Amino acid sequence: MYQFIAGLPKVELHLHIEGSLEPELMFELAQRNGIDIPFSNPEEVRGAYDFSNLQSFLDIYYQGAQVLISKRDFYDLTWAYMLRCKADNVLHTELFFDPQTHTDRGISFDTVMEGLTQALLQAELELGITSQLILCFLRHLDEASAFETLQQAKPWKQEIVAVGLDSSEIGHPPEKFARVFAEAVKQGYLTVAHAGEEGPSSNITDALDILKVSRIDHGVRCVDDPQLVSRLIEQQIHLTVCPLSNTKLKVFQSMEQHSIVDLLRQGVSVGINSDDPAYFGGYMNDNFAAVASSFHTSHLELAKFTANAIDASFCSIARKAELHQNLQHYVDSQ
Ligand code: ADE
Ligand code: ZN
Repeated sequence: MYQFIAGLPKVELHLHIEGSLEPELMFELAQRNGIDIPFSNPEEVRGAYDFSNLQSFLDIYYQGAQVLISKRDFYDLTWAYMLRCKADNVLHTELFFDPQTHTDRGISFDTVMEGLTQALLQAELELGITSQLILCFLRHLDEASAFETLQQAKPWKQEIVAVGLDSSEIGHPPEKFARVFAEAVKQGYLTVAHAGEEGPSSNITDALDILKVSRIDHGVRCVDDPQLVSRLIEQQIHLTVCPLSNTKLKVFQSMEQHSIVDLLRQGVSVGINSDDPAYFGGYMNDNFAAVASSFHTSHLELAKFTANAIDASFCSIARKAELHQNLQHYVDSQ
């Protein structure tokens, strides 16, 4: 099974670039930038990754991101992730980045973008991996800060395909950002949002109806509302599900209790993603393997996760056709 997964072409639609910061690189950047971190080695950092819920993770994740200062740091971070994509046969990836995590520390929006885009361009040229960038607003911050961030993105409009919404879901519902998302849509951005990860299924409905999202990030709480599940199936609204993240953050107590395979078999468009792989114990192949080993998934079911992600991706029609062709060729060869 692992061999099938390793060779399977993959598309990742839910990856926070700051969440791909491995402890080794965290140490290297801390040293390079003269920043103190409260750990003495990478193993100690890994030992601290024991989370009880989303917030307990976010506190450590924002702390880790503080080692990112220069364009070179953002480039190194992104290049390391793209090499992991190559290793896991990820052919297309759509990355979230959290500008406010950096601009609030005095790092310019341009510094972040310059580092990210340089690595992504190199990955396309040297590794053949295509990508898109999604700017995420931090929902624990206020509307004014999100508007300011949207303004800072203006010179980079061509490099950013969509805006998203992440961070602490409970207490920060989609309607808080209704006006920012309306403005983003007016400026020509697509929209996505984390919804129904820890928060109620009504956040999924509101993200669809108020924020006009093209797909839902996580969305696993949809199972609490059968009418919503019917809508997701009917309208083929894609959920970017992150299995290892959900078990690490105790959204599900074990992988066996995860709803992803049940949703797939009901006809919901679900995909498999790594979310914050450096913190949750694995990249794409590990997430696929965790699902495959906990459920009796067939090769065709595993391939369907990729097919769903291709259809829900923001790449061109031509690239989608190419990715589907690649997938079909692989399935036929097995
Ligand atoms: N930021 C990074 N990872 C996240 C997650 N899983 N949920 C919400 N915000 C995040
Ligand atoms: Zn996420």
